[in-house]
Amino acid sequence: MSTVVSVLNQKGGSGKSTLVTNLARAYQLEGHSVEILDGDSQRTATEWAKLQPADTNMPTVTSTTASNIEEHIEAASGSVVLVDGAPAHDTLNVRAMKLSDLVLVPVRASGPDLWSSEDLLDSIQTRREKTGGQPQAAFVVCQQVARTNLASEIGDVLASYPLPVLDGRTNHRVAYAEALSSGTTVLDMPGAKKAEAEIRRITEQSLEMLPSNQ
Ligand SMILES: Nc1ncnc2c1ncn2[C@@H]1O[C@H](COP(=O)(O)OP(=O)(O)OP(=O)(O)O)[C@@H](O)[C@H]1O
Ligand SMILES: [Mg+2]
Repeated sequence: MSTVVSVLNQKGGSGKSTLVTNLARAYQLEGHSVEILDGDSQRTATEWAKLQPADTNMPTVTSTTASNIEEHIEAASGSVVLVDGAPAHDTLNVRAMKLSDLVLVPVRASGPDLWSSEDLLDSIQTRREKTGGQPQAAFVVCQQVARTNLASEIGDVLASYPLPVLDGRTNHRVAYAEALSSGTTVLDMPGAKKAEAEIRRITEQSLEMLPSNQ
């Protein structure tokens, strides 16, 4: 059975697909075999995969829905399945959450973004209480604009929620947008060293949170 990591936030544009594609590649470079399940009907990850250079062995992407996500996870042959969630609090996201070992919740550094994610956070909390702590879950601050008040304030806002916050964050960098729109990742782009270091830190911390490493 594969380890399942879902990247979920009902808030659109919070950075889910960016995190999924880069983390998938980073897990792969750490020696895992990785498959992405694209649960978003906008199919960003699926489109990203179509743009991958022909001679690459980047993670594969399979489109999934609420009715077949469980089947897709059971059929996965990779050691890690990464689920890219939809920008809605829908059945797919709830199923993905329940089937996950780890849920990462990317959040942009502003309070209002978080308010619209309350349903997801409540569902995670309810599930964890029911199961005695499964899935593991953490916030990942994404698209941070360094040296702004928001960047420091987000830590205070997130501290009021029961989920931990990874130290690893992404700053707002054009390399992320370029990678997503050209079928690659910041780990494969020359000149994206700072973004690469951010993804490697998130990779390291997220892998440490997996139950197999506890
Ligand atoms: N760290 C970053 N720096 C700069 N741009 C970023 C960063 N993270 C994401 N973006 C850009 O922000 C936009 C939204 O990101 P992304 O598509 O990953 O969000 P999403 O949560 O998957 O959105 P949706 O809810 O629509 O699926 C994209 O154009 C992406 O390239
Ligand atoms: Mg997306």
